[in-house]
Amino acid sequence: MAIEFRNRHFITTQDYSVEELAMMLDLSFDMKKKFALSESTRYLPDKTLFMIFFDESTRTRNSMEAGMTQLGGHAHFLAPLHMQISHGETPKDTAMVLSRMGHGISIRHCKHGFGNSYLRGVAEWSKVPVFNLQDDVYHPFQVMADMMTIQEQFGKDPRGLKVVVSWAYAESHLKPLSVPQSQVLMFPRFGMNVTLAYPKGFDLMPEIMDQARENARNTGTKLEVVHEMEEAFRDADVIIAKNWGGFYVGSTEQEIREKQAEHKDWICDRKKMDLARSRAVYMHALPADRNKEVTDEIIDGKWSVVYDEAENRLHTAKAIMALTMGGRP
Ligand code: CP
Repeated sequence: MAIEFRNRHFITTQDYSVEELAMMLDLSFDMKKKFALSESTRYLPDKTLFMIFFDESTRTRNSMEAGMTQLGGHAHFLAPLHMQISHGETPKDTAMVLSRMGHGISIRHCKHGFGNSYLRGVAEWSKVPVFNLQDDVYHPFQVMADMMTIQEQFGKDPRGLKVVVSWAYAESHLKPLSVPQSQVLMFPRFGMNVTLAYPKGFDLMPEIMDQARENARNTGTKLEVVHEMEEAFRDADVIIAKNWGGFYVGSTEQEIREKQAEHKDWICDRKKMDLARSRAVYMHALPADRNKEVTDEIIDGKWSVVYDEAENRLHTAKAIMALTMGGRP
């Protein structure tokens, strides 16, 4: 396998082979060990990462910013409201200028129908790697941390595991489709069987489902869709129960919220969790709507690995940045 990561964008895991993703994960484990030992990981000395956040963040911003410090570089937090983006500066001009001043551009832009096209517009012109910190289609850094967490729990070879990606009720905000979409795309590539569960109408993007089915066909794994949480949970090894907005059940936020409110019983609770295998773990990218998406008993209980999953955002981010912003010339 070639080891050519330098200067590549990281917008979706689909742009990388399974072998390349596995190498990123191996390096993430190495980063975690070194972090535990307080060993230096200064792979990007004096390098600058720009971070443009159109949307709020706790884990993503801090994993990238702390990650850059630990890699020996620096990350700038940029809010579009305080940039010329707010006066209409184009993705091309922003990309050309920031490329001349630093070594990576990262962007979070989750607005449905806009985020991914904005990122692609910047990536087209950027001379340095562009990182997707979550858009309306993909959340590649999250799914890498999810994958690392699954490997920590079940071993480096996760083939044959049953992973449930389930919709759950929430009220805080309309959560993007990008987390479940990234999961149904990537998990089958690593040989896991995925059950996607959601109330009728809360579909993921059809083109993403087509790609996910193709990924599953290529590895001979199962990707099934069900519309009942209990049916999905039966004999599962990994439960990821989390909300996403129903972007096909309504065209306004109010319509979508009204439809969501019809499914308050879609909560991950003890009764449902007991249907999974005794070794099953509960995962959530966070932030969670506690006692709406998942009960306190589960998210604070023996099943939960959500804080490992959150910490792994740091180690995976460092591995991906080290390989793409640095790496072999
Ligand atoms: N999981 C995740 O992306 O968290 P933040 O929204 O806090 O970055």
